[in-house]
Amino acid sequence: MNYPTTKAAPAVTRGKDEADLTIVGGAGHVGIPLVLAFAEAGLTVNVNDLNETALATLKSGKLPFIEYGAAPLLTKALAENRLIFTSSSDAIARSGPVIVTIGTPVDEFLNPVQKAMQACIDSLLPHISDGQLLVLRSTVYPGTTAWLDDYLKRRGRKLKIAFCPERVVQGYGVKELREMPQIVSGTSPEAEEEAAALFQKIAPELVVVRPLEAEFAKLFANAYRYIEFAATNQFYMIAKSAGADYRSIMQAMKHNYPRAKNFPGPGFAAGPCLFKDTMQLAAYARNQFGIGHAAMQVNEGLALQVVEDIRRGFDLADMTVGLLGMAFKAEIDDARASLSYKMKNALAVCAREVLTTDPFVTSDPALLPLDEVVDRSDILVLCTPHSTYKDMEFHKKPVVDVWGFLKNANVIY
Ligand SMILES: NC(=O)c1ccc[n+]([C@@H]2O[C@H](COP(=O)([O-])OP(=O)(O)OC[C@H]3O[C@@H](n4cnc5c(N)ncnc54)[C@H](O)[C@@H]3O)[C@@H](O)[C@H]2O)c1
Repeated sequence: MNYPTTKAAPAVTRGKDEADLTIVGGAGHVGIPLVLAFAEAGLTVNVNDLNETALATLKSGKLPFIEYGAAPLLTKALAENRLIFTSSSDAIARSGPVIVTIGTPVDEFLNPVQKAMQACIDSLLPHISDGQLLVLRSTVYPGTTAWLDDYLKRRGRKLKIAFCPERVVQGYGVKELREMPQIVSGTSPEAEEEAAALFQKIAPELVVVRPLEAEFAKLFANAYRYIEFAATNQFYMIAKSAGADYRSIMQAMKHNYPRAKNFPGPGFAAGPCLFKDTMQLAAYARNQFGIGHAAMQVNEGLALQVVEDIRRGFDLADMTVGLLGMAFKAEIDDARASLSYKMKNALAVCAREVLTTDPFVTSDPALLPLDEVVDRSDILVLCTPHSTYKDMEFHKKPVVDVWGFLKNANVIY
């Protein structure tokens, strides 16, 4: 994949204390669009990230992953010398806001890894001054902002603490940051006011609430989306087991019927956020989040159901299965928490061979060119509906298309 490239950074290197603000995790998926939005607004940004490779990529004028609309902003920010690249916590500026955008995973038992945030904060503390604004931007377990406020007070620190969740959809952050309202919250009127003044520079509109409300607003939105996908996926499986065509059912449901207008189609609901955030909420609710757990079972189960259907219909021991698309969603290169890999693992134990391809993903050395996968496979599965596949015929080989996406292929179900 050739990412859009820009000119290299100017030779003049600016010091961290010249930055108007610092973004910790600034070379990540949330960090980069945010860095570029503030730079576009005329601020000088300290892009602080442990990932030195990603920093070097940015510094050389390239993007480490697909972020639509980011390339021209990166070119401009570098040309205007608005970006300072730093890779350790002692390079945080001692004045100006600090925004934290690091990952907030759940562990193998689906509990939030709260220590990740604490470790990051602990590493920052010796290098930031009392009175500075510290903004949590990562999606956090409910109560994290109040916990942080208390944690710092008990250490005699007087920072202003805010929580302003990121809500952009991956790959389209540049566009959405310009268009979407920004949720702002703070643990004191001063923190709230300063955070509002900061995000006012890049957002068209602010919604100010209390920190716990902001934390729930972010998690409820993601869990709701995950539940919506589960509803359609469950209906798909019911319709399929009855021998009915789900595409026709959806068309009947939605045609000129406003209440079903936004009902999503079936597909593999995956990625680093929806599952994880639904499980954070479940952990908060002492695992009494039945609808969230059910959504997880349905969405994860759909991938295994597809494997089971293929296994029952074909003698897979003598067949090669080709998986089309390994990114977790269409038109991006991010394979984190992609259900394509769940399918690959499940098929690996019953098929003669499993081949994989993706036009965007560059992180997986096992990926093969599309033509080779199509030529060598006996059956294909559309895992990710990248637009490049839409009109393809795949030599009329049998294709499984849960999404109802392909136009000209020999779709068997
Ligand atoms: N990916 C999205 O589209 C999206 C959208 C909304 C919210 N979120 C949330 O935002 C958070 C970040 O997600 P992401 O997808 O950007 O993750 P990411 O892994 O792409 O980015 C996190 C970055 O933080 C860096 N990092 C980690 N610890 C650090 C430290 N101590 N100091 C400096 N840098 C550090 C990593 O090197 C990485 O570059 C998560 O809480 C996620 O749920 C993500």
